[in-house]
Amino acid sequence: MDGNGRWAQARGKPRHAGHRAGVETVRRVIETCGKRGVRVLTLFAFSSENWQRPETEVKMLMELFFTALNREIRRLQKQNVRLRIIGDVSAFSQKLQQLIREGEQLTADNDGLVLQIAANYGGRWDITQAARNLARQVKAGILQPEEIDESVFARQLSFSDQPDPDLFIRTGGEKRISNFMLWQCAYTELYFTDVLWPDFDDQALEAAFEDFSGRQRRFGRVSAQVEG
Ligand code: IPE
Ligand code: MG
Repeated sequence: MDGNGRWAQARGKPRHAGHRAGVETVRRVIETCGKRGVRVLTLFAFSSENWQRPETEVKMLMELFFTALNREIRRLQKQNVRLRIIGDVSAFSQKLQQLIREGEQLTADNDGLVLQIAANYGGRWDITQAARNLARQVKAGILQPEEIDESVFARQLSFSDQPDPDLFIRTGGEKRISNFMLWQCAYTELYFTDVLWPDFDDQALEAAFEDFSGRQRRFGRVSAQVEG
């Protein structure tokens, strides 16, 4: 979700107005994805690198995360959405951590859309913590280095109970992955749009789905193997 700041700047508003407008987009996208039968939606809300922004913006984003979550949890529950927050949440305030636990517990049995919010998340962080876990197991003698293959490794990663993403959407014009789900996106279809996140409406989302539906996914094979 990129482009909140520029959206605000273009309107002569402070950056936080863009972030607030971005929350509205989040609500709409969750609703539409639920209706469209998307099984898993992962939103990259705050990266491990976003702490480097000016202190006032970081503080504002934390407060917004809290108020938006607090306000939306009941709606998610009504929509049968299962909420999960992925990332190193230990860096957040106790209050926010408590709210995250409550939201996850309340919605744990819902079987509709799985909504994963990546917060204080980074793909390299994820791979590093997986490696550390495996190293601990080897040290403890419960795992042999030879036993580590891709599936053993993948099981230590965040999101490991969900399929790898089919489609990656980045709004705001930049053509980068910016440390998002590096391992999991190995065969994900990438889609970049200039639309700024607060402007990312249903039509823009449909355009991404439409583009995705025209892709041929070969996973390293040749066309003839996957056609027909
Ligand atoms: C994305 O919008 C929101 C977060 C990363 C929290 P930006 O804040 O990156 O918006 P731009 O890139 O400055 O327009
Ligand atoms: Mg940005």
